[in-house]
Amino acid sequence: MNVLLINGSPHPKGCTFTALSTVAAQLEQNGIESRIIQIGSKAIRGCIACGKCKETGYCVFKDDPVNETIDLLRAADGVVVGSPVYYAGPNATLCALLDRVFYMKSAPYAFKPAAAVVSCRRGGASASFDRLNKYFTIARMPLVSSQYWNSVHGNNAEEVVQDKEGLQIMRTLGNNMAWLIKCIAAGKAAGIHPPTPEAWEPTNFIR
Ligand SMILES: Cc1cc2nc3c(=O)[nH]c(=O)nc-3n(C[C@H](O)[C@H](O)[C@H](O)COP(=O)(O)O)c2cc1C
Repeated sequence: MNVLLINGSPHPKGCTFTALSTVAAQLEQNGIESRIIQIGSKAIRGCIACGKCKETGYCVFKDDPVNETIDLLRAADGVVVGSPVYYAGPNATLCALLDRVFYMKSAPYAFKPAAAVVSCRRGGASASFDRLNKYFTIARMPLVSSQYWNSVHGNNAEEVVQDKEGLQIMRTLGNNMAWLIKCIAAGKAAGIHPPTPEAWEPTNFIR
């Protein structure tokens, strides 16, 4: 069992990393392997809505980490996405990656437990957290909760370490995610499988 943790920050050892590594340590204490990838300093373009991924399952652009992330997410049992807060939203590089990782490609991620964590100096954590959860809740992924909305506060890793409640929220999240992943595995072993999705009935608000 393994969890993919995606760090949207450009800082490899910054605040978001500190939050994600706290979740990862807790997962590992519960016997769940984890891997943190960092994408925030890479040049990742936005989705151009060409729709080619509907045929291939992959993005047409092969010069950034999007297709590799798709493979990692397909192989994972759960995912945690971490973002610094930029103007009360997740950072743009992360959104560019997630738009292309999820759009027309989310069926294989269904029923994998997912969570977002955010880091901010002062404000905008809740809005960013809500925005990230949109990726999961449109993809049939069960959201893993903690004891509060998943955020830490600080402008650098040293400050985040002082956010005792923030780090406790991350530990609780790791414990809860490990528990849910194990419950899903136990359910499968007992013959309880995810529901079969209905055929999609798109209505584009034209009637
Ligand atoms: C472009 C930019 C916009 C930011 N906007 C906000 C904001 O809206 N609210 C806030 O509290 N902090 C804001 N910050 C500060 C970061 O969210 C904060 O320092 C974060 O914890 C950094 O995480 P990191 O070390 O993982 O990159 C902003 C920083 C940058 C570079």
